[in-house]
Amino acid sequence: MSSSAEASAATSGESQFVVVANRLPVDRVTNPDGSEGWTRSPGGLVSALAPVMRKQDGSWVGWVGSPDEAPEPFHSDGMDLVAVALSAQEIQDFYEGFSNATLWPLYHDVIVPAEFHREWWDSYVQVNRRFASAAAEVAAEGAIVWVQDYQLQLVPMQLREMRPDLRIGFFLHIPFPPKELFAQLPWRRQIIEGLLGADLVGFQREGAVGNFLDIAAKYTSARPISSNQVAVDGRRVTAGAFPISLEVEEIERLVDDESVQARAQSIREELGSPARVLLGVDRLDYTKGIRHRLKAWSELLADGDVTPQDAVFVQVATPSRERVDAYAALRDEIELEVGHINGEYGTIGSPPIHYLHSTYDRRELVAMFMAADVAVVTPLRDGMNLVAKEYVAARVDNRGTVVLSEFAGAADHLTGSVLVNPHDIDGLKAALLEALHMPEREQERRMRAMRAEVKDHDVAWWADTFVTCLRDECQ
Ligand code: ADP
Ligand code: F6P
Repeated sequence: MSSSAEASAATSGESQFVVVANRLPVDRVTNPDGSEGWTRSPGGLVSALAPVMRKQDGSWVGWVGSPDEAPEPFHSDGMDLVAVALSAQEIQDFYEGFSNATLWPLYHDVIVPAEFHREWWDSYVQVNRRFASAAAEVAAEGAIVWVQDYQLQLVPMQLREMRPDLRIGFFLHIPFPPKELFAQLPWRRQIIEGLLGADLVGFQREGAVGNFLDIAAKYTSARPISSNQVAVDGRRVTAGAFPISLEVEEIERLVDDESVQARAQSIREELGSPARVLLGVDRLDYTKGIRHRLKAWSELLADGDVTPQDAVFVQVATPSRERVDAYAALRDEIELEVGHINGEYGTIGSPPIHYLHSTYDRRELVAMFMAADVAVVTPLRDGMNLVAKEYVAARVDNRGTVVLSEFAGAADHLTGSVLVNPHDIDGLKAALLEALHMPEREQERRMRAMRAEVKDHDVAWWADTFVTCLRDECQ
């Protein structure tokens, strides 16, 4: 998607439904002809919420992705967008620092060490307040405001203080850690108090709900009143699991499109028409287990269990958070390993791995899903993982297999996948071989079941369940 921004009527104080997220669903791009436009920003949050917002008459409050930029409210891709500005210093301290070098690793099992810096925290408080003020300005009397993700955990309470008339929901897209990890956070009480400003706090999995309620009871004055509710300052706060999903029809429409089908076929041809294609599609993030899957692939080639003529691996890695040290280091490691694998096991015209460090539009991604026999999704920890669900949604032919980490939320739903512990490299190798050699009838049996699950629980179901619960207090 790429569209130009049109000015729209001011939305101030009129929106009955407001989404507040760190990023707007679009990033600014310069088109090949030099004109400026907007393109959909990557990540599961945007993939899930964009279709929900297009159907609502509401506003999306967020950052445009570059420093000091806050255009007037505008309309793009069927949504009313309200920009919040971040300075270059705030990008360093709030976004790269506290959000992505403190909270992100802490909430993902400390795969890399979490860093704690007081100036990052100060910036987090200040930027959260700016988002809260922007939401307070656009929300109509009694509106629903739905705050998203770990970057904005203080917004619910800040917003409640500004606008007690609002109905406030919060949804965490990433895992919520157990108290043994969360307790390391010097600002643990403030974060939980921030979340308790919401009427409804949603998580991807039941385990996260339990962690949150335990931590709230330990570090704040919240008192349990039922298995999923606490009382705070005379208010009731509900916590619940709402597993996120995707818009299945959007993907099915693309699968139906003849030009996407032709593209899927030409991808196979460009890859040299190998017997099998394995595909990984991820933000280039250390939580995604890309190194682990490359190691398994490299060993399968070394052992002679696969040859580049039997199968090729396509790894799409969207650039992400490139100025955060751990991400820059990961990129170097992955690129070194890809070079090693191709140098060691490739022949002219037959590299065993194709590595694409780029962002693609939805048509190209769906064509890739259609062209791939095996989706390889091996995060070490992931709130949900929408790529796994997208692959299933794209396989209207009921073919293909998913190798899926048991540490992704999606493992609760895609039970027809080949489940793996990505830390177990031998187990991962065996899973890849099982997927590569799975008989067609077995693929079909599993894929049918997974498709039924994804279609029954799509993103409209997720949003309706959450918003209904928020409106009606989930009694
Ligand atoms: P996360 O939210 O951690 O990024 P998810 O798997 O839940 O992980 O969501 C990733 C989303 O970003 C998916 O909708 C996926 O299709 C999209 N995406 C991933 N890689 C790319 C890419 N290279 N180009 C465009 N979109 C991508
Ligand atoms: O939930 C995962 C998430 O952090 C989202 O909040 C975000 O949209 C996505 O990943 C991409 O991350 P970033 O906005 O840091 O590029």
